[in-house]
Amino acid sequence: MKFFIDTANLAQIKEAQDLGILDGVTTNPSLMAKEGITGHDNILKHYIKICNLVDGDVSAEVISTDFEGMVREGDALAELHDQIVIKLPMTKDGIKACKYFSDRDIKTNVTLVFSAGQALLAAKAGATYVSPFIGRLDDISTDGMHLIAEIRHIYDNYNFETEILAASVRHTMHIIDCAKIGADVMTGPLSAIEGLLKHPLTDIGLAKFLADYNKGN
Ligand code: E4P
Repeated sequence: MKFFIDTANLAQIKEAQDLGILDGVTTNPSLMAKEGITGHDNILKHYIKICNLVDGDVSAEVISTDFEGMVREGDALAELHDQIVIKLPMTKDGIKACKYFSDRDIKTNVTLVFSAGQALLAAKAGATYVSPFIGRLDDISTDGMHLIAEIRHIYDNYNFETEILAASVRHTMHIIDCAKIGADVMTGPLSAIEGLLKHPLTDIGLAKFLADYNKGN
């Protein structure tokens, strides 16, 4: 399973990259705003900084909601850096734009996916990634993980190449459950990734090893 980090925070991206397990980055307009990155030019410059920090794919979201606007914006984003993936909303125009970019071998990420039907359409349009939002489904008392399983089943039935990018991951158990189901990628915060490191028996065991070593020294 690929690990993407879901943030526009450069320090956190660098920390995950330095851990040696990072495969890419996802951003969205809210994550950019959270870091105080506003204004068209600043946002574009920030994407370049992110691309220069990591080796893998970096999702950059369009703001336009109409097909022509998405194509214009996406073409410009794709020119920025070869690691950029065009993130498109799951709408009629978004699906048309996804087809436009996939026909031109430009990578896409169809975002704001909340149903198996939406994921099926994204795959038909040739999306590189589809982003079902687990946490936001959980927020409304729906089983986000069930959606990942449904999409896995459908994609496997037809050998769709679109990768399931489990998004809106909020905690460590989400990552483990996604891995069990077979999501291709997960994107989550650094805290959820670092949670995978932790087990109290590891800490206790290490403390005991060090104490026993020190007895002889
Ligand atoms: C996905 O690409 C989105 O950026 C993200 O995962 C949304 O997560 P949230 O629901 O925690 O805002």
